[in-house]
Amino acid sequence: MEQEMIEALNLLLGRHRSRRENVLWLLQDIQTHFGYIPEEAVDWFAERLDIPTSRFFGVITFYPKFRMRPAGRNTLTVCCGAACHIKGGRGLLETARNSLGLPPGEDTSSDLSFTLQEATCIGACNIAPVAILNDRVYGDVDPRKISALIEEHRSPAPEGET
Ligand code: FES
Repeated sequence: MEQEMIEALNLLLGRHRSRRENVLWLLQDIQTHFGYIPEEAVDWFAERLDIPTSRFFGVITFYPKFRMRPAGRNTLTVCCGAACHIKGGRGLLETARNSLGLPPGEDTSSDLSFTLQEATCIGACNIAPVAILNDRVYGDVDPRKISALIEEHRSPAPEGET
C-alpha cells in the first residue's frame, strides 16, 4: 500500500475510531476521499476497528452509490425515461455499451475513460432522446452521434492508471 494512501486512511481512522459502529459513514468518507472504495482500505479498517470485512461488504453491496472501482474520467448518462425510450433511448444505451466494450454488469470501461449511467428522466423530454456527457446535455441523439461523442472523448489513461 502506498504511503499516500496510508496517510489518508490514518486521517480517516482518527475521525472514525470513536464511532466504529457507523460503517456507513466511514464508507462514505472513504469514497469521498478516493472516488471509490479500495478493497485494501476495507481490509485495513476491518483490522484496525475489529470489524469483520463482511460487514463492510454487506453495506457496500446494499447501497448502489458505493463503487469498488474508480469511475471513468468521463461520465456518459443516457436517458431511458418514457419519452426517450419511445425515441430509442434503450438502443442508444446499447450502442454506448458496445462502443465502450462493457460486459454485462460493468459500468466503467477497462481503460477508465468512461463510466456509463442510465437515467429515468432528466426533464428535457422535448429534445428526446437525451444523453449527458459530463455536464453537457445533448438532444436528438442518435447512435452515430453517441458513438462520435465517445470517440471524441476517449482518452488514454494517464501514466500509472488503468
Ligand atoms: S424521458 Fe428522457 S428527458 Fe424525459
